[in-house]
Amino acid sequence: QTGHFTLDPGFTSTGSCESQITFIDGEKGVLLHRGYPIDQLAEKSDFLEVCYLLLNGELPTAAELSEYKHTITNHTMIHTQFDRFFDGFRRDAHPMAIVTGAIGALSAFYHDSLDINNPQHRLISAHRLIAKMPTIAARAHKYSIGQPFISPRNDLGYAANFLRMCFAVPAEDYQVQEVMARAMDRIFILHADHEQNASTSTVRLAGSSGANPFACMAAGIACLWGPSHGGANEAALTMLQEIGTVDRIPEYIARAKDKSDPFRLMGFGHRVYKNYDPRATVMQKTCHEVLDAVGAHNDPLLQVAVELERIALEDPYFVEKKLYPNIDFYSGITLKAMGFPTEMFTVLFALARTVGWVAQWQEMIEDPTQRIGRPRQIYTGAAKRDYLPVNKR
Ligand code: SDX
Repeated sequence: QTGHFTLDPGFTSTGSCESQITFIDGEKGVLLHRGYPIDQLAEKSDFLEVCYLLLNGELPTAAELSEYKHTITNHTMIHTQFDRFFDGFRRDAHPMAIVTGAIGALSAFYHDSLDINNPQHRLISAHRLIAKMPTIAARAHKYSIGQPFISPRNDLGYAANFLRMCFAVPAEDYQVQEVMARAMDRIFILHADHEQNASTSTVRLAGSSGANPFACMAAGIACLWGPSHGGANEAALTMLQEIGTVDRIPEYIARAKDKSDPFRLMGFGHRVYKNYDPRATVMQKTCHEVLDAVGAHNDPLLQVAVELERIALEDPYFVEKKLYPNIDFYSGITLKAMGFPTEMFTVLFALARTVGWVAQWQEMIEDPTQRIGRPRQIYTGAAKRDYLPVNKR
């Protein structure tokens, strides 16, 4: 018997809400950010311009973009006292654990002075999160490999600054390759926002109680970590490495179809897309560009990925269930070729998705009809009954 649910204005019983930020047509494989197709933004825009678009609803003028980039660039440093936060972690801590804790800890730095009902305070929080996420993510990487932290530089673009903070060492000069900076920037764009996915819904639900925005983002990062969500890029590469060679693909295709086997093709399938994930198309192109740049266009992992995709897309099981590659299928190969360890893959996803979480949180907070989220349930437990003393059970 299904009960009658009173639908909260902000959240229906299925947890849906109204938004003007991102539109997905899962059947057609369409993704629009404020009306602009993702493939056009990935090819023609840059990440900070997409951040401006997601947060403000319109593409910036040249002057607006210049001012925005200057603001973000000048918020990239983090408090020196914050560096000591990392020392509390074991050296082998997963970078996602470090970043989840670090962003949550920012709520201690920016709590008392923050009034989320003040638009200026919300804007400053947005700037701080987008600006400081690369610095914190790079520090998590440096901490886990025991290398000195590299400070951000104001003469570098957002993606180039991040790559330098990750890969430079004090002992030698480091020049960011333009092709890598462009690839990184495009990968950030592809991951920026994706409507009401699990982690964004987590941020919205946490934010609907009026919680500190930095704490809400930490909740989103925690949710993204799961292998069914943002952790799939790390899991997809591990899967390709485990398959190893093209001749072993049929064995894994069979396992993915076997309901008694928990194995699923990582980087395949999606809650919404029942067609090709448009981001995966751009990611595959970026993958080839990066592999060419590092002279790895014959990477055996890419050969396994391309053949696995071909076989799966021709297999009746995957065709009938409308399972296609998603954004995570080629991202792992790309990020590995760029020099990132697999543990950093989901951190990069969280870095890019920070703007989507902030934009969606901001949209919710500014909605005057917004009330605390309260997803409903279908109760399937015991009917009302009286307590029995232990000697009568
Ligand atoms: C992201 O929501 C978002 O927008 C997320 C995201 C974002 O940008 O925020 O796009 C990022 O999380 C992408 C997805 C990354 N995850 C993975 O690649 C992990 C592997 N994929 C699966 O775990 C799965 O496809 C999910 C979790 C993504 C979706 O799971 P669902 O909702 O169960 O998938 P579905 O309803 O479309 O499944 C239909 C059927 C099911 O079988 P039946 O119950 O009908 O018999 O297809 C099966 C599933 O078991 N299936 C798979 C499969 N994915 C679904 N079978 C084998 N391999 C797979 N990958």
